[in-house]
Amino acid sequence: MPADPTAAVPILRPTRAEISLSAVRKNLVKLKNTAAPARLLFVVKANAYGHGAAELARLAEREKLAWGFGVSSVEEGLALRAAGIAGPVLVLGSLYPFESFVEAINADLMVTIASLDAARQVIEAARKLGKEAICHIKLETGMGRIGARKPSVLKIYDELSASGAVSVAGLYTHLSSADTDPDYTGAQLSIFSETAGELEARGARGLVFHAANSAATLNFPVSRMELVRCGIAAYGLAGGFEPALSLKSKIVFIKNVREGAYISYNKSFRADRPMKIATIPAGYGDGYIRRFSNKADVLIGGKRCRVLGNVTMDMTMVDVSAVKDAAVGSEAVLLGRQGGEEVTAQELAGLADTITYEIVTLISARVPRVYVE
Ligand SMILES: Cc1ncc(COP(=O)(O)O)c(C=O)c1O
Repeated sequence: MPADPTAAVPILRPTRAEISLSAVRKNLVKLKNTAAPARLLFVVKANAYGHGAAELARLAEREKLAWGFGVSSVEEGLALRAAGIAGPVLVLGSLYPFESFVEAINADLMVTIASLDAARQVIEAARKLGKEAICHIKLETGMGRIGARKPSVLKIYDELSASGAVSVAGLYTHLSSADTDPDYTGAQLSIFSETAGELEARGARGLVFHAANSAATLNFPVSRMELVRCGIAAYGLAGGFEPALSLKSKIVFIKNVREGAYISYNKSFRADRPMKIATIPAGYGDGYIRRFSNKADVLIGGKRCRVLGNVTMDMTMVDVSAVKDAAVGSEAVLLGRQGGEEVTAQELAGLADTITYEIVTLISARVPRVYVE
C-alpha cells in the first residue's frame, strides 16, 4: 500500500466521527453468544459501514470477538491484511477481472464463486500461482444480486473439487428480507437446505453453510447454521444493540439575525423572528446529506436545534436561539447523544427516506474517525 501523504496533516477542524469501542465490543459479544455454536463473520465492508474497518477488525481479532471478516472486494481484503489482520477473510462480492483472483489467493483471502466462469478463473489462478485457493460457492435463493442457481452450483462444485487446485470451504446465500418478510425468508432458506442436501448427497463434506445476516441471526435461529455474517447489529443499529458511532463537531461561527433574514443557498430558510444562528463545519461533503435541510436537529447545549436552510457542502446552519450560552467552540452533535437528548441514525434515516446503513456508510473519508472506550 502506498503511504498516505496526508497522514501527517494535523486534524484541526472539529468535525469527527467518534466510535465507541466498548459499544462494538458489547455488540459483538452479544452476537457471538446469540449465534453460538455458529461462528461469527464480522462484516466490515465499506470501511465497516463507515466505522473504520482496520481499527474494528483489529479489535475483534485481538479480543477474539469474531471468527473472521467479510469484505466486499479484494481491495478491502488487502487493506485488512495491510492492517495486520491474519484471520479468515471472505470476499463477499463477485470477482472480476482475472487478476483479482490472483491477488486474493496471494493474500489468503477466501473468494466467492457465483458462476461457472468464475470457477474456471479461480482454478486457473490457483494453478498459475501453485497455491490452493479457498472458496465459498454462492447460491441464488431470491436476493437476485449474485449467485448461481442449484444446477449451476452442483456443476461449479464438481469442477472445483475435481480441479485439485481449489478447496471448497462453504456454500452460502444472502437473505433479502429477513427484517421484513418471514415467509419469503423461509422460502429462501428451504431452497438453500435443499441445495445443501444435494451437495452432501454428492459426497461434499465439511462445507460451512451460511445464510444469516444480522436480522436473520436475531429472528431466525434456524438460519444460523455453521456461520452468521453480521454487520449492522455489530454497529449497534439493530434493536437491543448499542449504537457505536456519533458524529460530532463544534460551532465555528455565530450570529444574530433580524426577522426576514435569509439563510443558506437559494434563500432556503427565512427567519420569521430575530434568531441566533450557529454555523457547524459539516455538510454533505462529510456525508451529512442535503436531505437533512430544514428537517434534522443538531444537539447543542443538550437541546435540539433545527437545521436552517440547505445543508451546504462544508457547513450547516442551526437555530441556537434557545441555547443561551451557545458560542464558538460549543459542541454540536449531529448524530448521537448529548446530555439527555439523542439524534439516532433511525431518526436521520427517516428524515431522508433511507436506511441506517446509508446514514453511517456515507460519512465521508474526510471525517476523522476517533476511537474511544
Ligand atoms: C452477503 C452479505 N452478508 C452479510 C451482510 C451483513 O448484513 P447486515 O449488515 O444486515 O448484518 C451483508 C451486508 O449487506 C452482505 O452483503
